[in-house]
Amino acid sequence: MKKNTEVENVMEKIVSLAKRRGFIFQGSEIYGGLAGTYDFGPFGVTLKNNIKRLWWKRFVEEREDMYGIDAAILMNQNVWKASGHVAGFSDPLVECKKCKRRFRADHLEDKKKCPECGGELGPEKQFNMMFKTNVGAQEDEDSISYLRPETAQGMFVNYKNVLDSLHPKLPFGLAQIGKAFRNEIAPRDFVFRLRELEQMEIEYFVNPTIEAGKEGSWQSVFDHFRLQMHDFVEKDLGLAKTKVHELEIAPGDLAHYSKRTIDFEFDFPFGKKELYGLAYRTDFDLKQHSQASNVALDYFDEESKSRFTPHCIEPSFGVERTVLAVLTDAYQEEASEKEGEEPRVYLKFSPKVAPVKVAVFPLLKNKPILVEKAREVYATIKKELGAIGIYGVEFDDNGNIGKRYRRQDEIGTPFCITVDFETIEKDAGITIRYRDTATQERMSVSDLVKKLKENLAV
Ligand code: GAP
Repeated sequence: MKKNTEVENVMEKIVSLAKRRGFIFQGSEIYGGLAGTYDFGPFGVTLKNNIKRLWWKRFVEEREDMYGIDAAILMNQNVWKASGHVAGFSDPLVECKKCKRRFRADHLEDKKKCPECGGELGPEKQFNMMFKTNVGAQEDEDSISYLRPETAQGMFVNYKNVLDSLHPKLPFGLAQIGKAFRNEIAPRDFVFRLRELEQMEIEYFVNPTIEAGKEGSWQSVFDHFRLQMHDFVEKDLGLAKTKVHELEIAPGDLAHYSKRTIDFEFDFPFGKKELYGLAYRTDFDLKQHSQASNVALDYFDEESKSRFTPHCIEPSFGVERTVLAVLTDAYQEEASEKEGEEPRVYLKFSPKVAPVKVAVFPLLKNKPILVEKAREVYATIKKELGAIGIYGVEFDDNGNIGKRYRRQDEIGTPFCITVDFETIEKDAGITIRYRDTATQERMSVSDLVKKLKENLAV
């Protein structure tokens, strides 16, 4: 574990780069911000979209057993009563009697003394983390609704709709990407713990009568997703394998709905913390909703002619935590050989997640002949890559070439292409510069296109 000041230093540099280069801004910044909210800028939203696209491709498009949905964020309040969130989605809270500041009790070492002013802390209370609102003009008990604290329930309440409309056979899953809201007592660590977040979740339904060891049993499905989650992290996101750790949650610490949970932890600069979760939710949710709504949420198995409530395996991923893992894993500083010169900073993104994949420059900005040729190369690359679904090609003629390299390094662009006088005078092709080594190579435009296609294919 790194020293506190070192951690703060790294995080400060990453937060500053994220802002300076248009990835992530403080929410409502010009008004002094709103704690626990962040806004994603042009490169941030592209990074996020690339992550979501990779997830959707792996977990929905490439499978025959997964059905995507997009449920409403506002739901009937009875959903949250049945799911257990109204009664139990809370964190322990203590308030200082002197300064009135509030803290999460389980984050405090000394539960008697205020960490801010030293005053006496009051008794521990449960604080429900759902944002409550009223739907419609009436503000009474019946109009209460909540901003969903997880996307999961949108899938349980649509189980029957998908079954009735598409008639999938077990095992099958529902998948969803969307916003969730939690009134966290202590949002912290940049985009690690937020009040407005995005989740990518799967509720995968299985036949509970299949014995362990057989295909389709909850145990085998659990193991399947466990491996898929590792593949997503390592092969799609390109995160360092050594930074991802599994944590088996002890039976006494499991959520009320879970019989088994594994947390996927990641080595963030501020410590080893939860990145994702994989839970065996049994038939808890379908049974709760069935009882509360009086609608049968079961399954008729044609083969055995039996009716039962499916059990559920839930792989759950936070989008912003993924962004943070990707950003912190990618951040690199390379000391300069020249004395007194600032280190080279670059983001070593996997090409699959990089917001800009290729940047094209004219060597000099004020030479029309170079600009024109560079524009031509840019158009060719854009067209060729666009034809195979790869976007993120940028034309850049701002400042001098050194500044352009610095900027592209800091936004994690893997390939920079320069058009110079040799390109035109000697028909010598372009130069390609590789971000991670800062080395350059000269090649023809057709070889370049081939190389980019090989290296960028998703
Ligand atoms: N449906 C299950 C569920 O929501 P969770 O462990 O509470 O389980 C799942 O959340 C994932 O959502 C976490 O592993 C994390 O990636 C993300 N997440 C949860 N709370 C978050 C928060 N306050 N800020 C950012 N991400 C969060």
